[in-house]
Amino acid sequence: MPTPPILISPSVLDSDLSRLSEEVERITSADLVHLDIMDNHFVPNLTFGLPVVQRLLEHTSMRADVHLMIENPDTWAPAYAEAGAASVTFHAEASRAPVKLARELRAKGARAGIALRPATGVEPFLDLLPELDMVLVMTVEPGFGGQAFIDGVLPKIRRARAAIDELDADIWIQVDGGVTRETIGRAASAGANVFVAGSAVYRAEDPAAEIASLRELALAAWSA
Ligand code: DX5
Ligand code: ZN
Repeated sequence: MPTPPILISPSVLDSDLSRLSEEVERITSADLVHLDIMDNHFVPNLTFGLPVVQRLLEHTSMRADVHLMIENPDTWAPAYAEAGAASVTFHAEASRAPVKLARELRAKGARAGIALRPATGVEPFLDLLPELDMVLVMTVEPGFGGQAFIDGVLPKIRRARAAIDELDADIWIQVDGGVTRETIGRAASAGANVFVAGSAVYRAEDPAAEIASLRELALAAWSA
């Protein structure tokens, strides 16, 4: 199985959200921009929703990687694909009909992702992998930036990667939460290829340099 693309997707959660489109301009050397949608129900935090994403996509040529931490994604997720998001990820714990939803997202031209909280197993979804383009393995409890990476989820990443290798499919594994220069190598060695980094990038003095370092460390871990 060839190495999947190594992609860096900074999360704007830790940026100055009152200047969102300018903040996105600071990370254009990244592969994607990660947009965290929170509804104060699925997670105890509230960010922004569809109208903001729609307007943001008019201002940037970056590909949007939308992470929906909301209840009832079956109803709300397809509109993000219609808005032009390159990838739309919904939580396994919140979707009632994940296969139906993934098919709908793909039909609207987006990559379909399923997200797993740290305590959610990947096993129930392994047979459904061909319906998906990405598995987001949360490496913190979703809701807030700046938390510490949970090493206990690394075996789950390894099991997901082994199943994907067996299928020989172009399915990405994303890690989100606590991804830093210190932790990214471990996530990559376990088989992750899409790396969300919020505080590491936006609290850095030079976000572009941080993105380059993270990419280099992930690539080094993959080729080791
Ligand atoms: C957390 C969000 C993350 C968050 C990551 O629930 O899904 O995308 O922004 O932030 P860091 O990289 O600071 O852990
Ligand atoms: Zn996220």
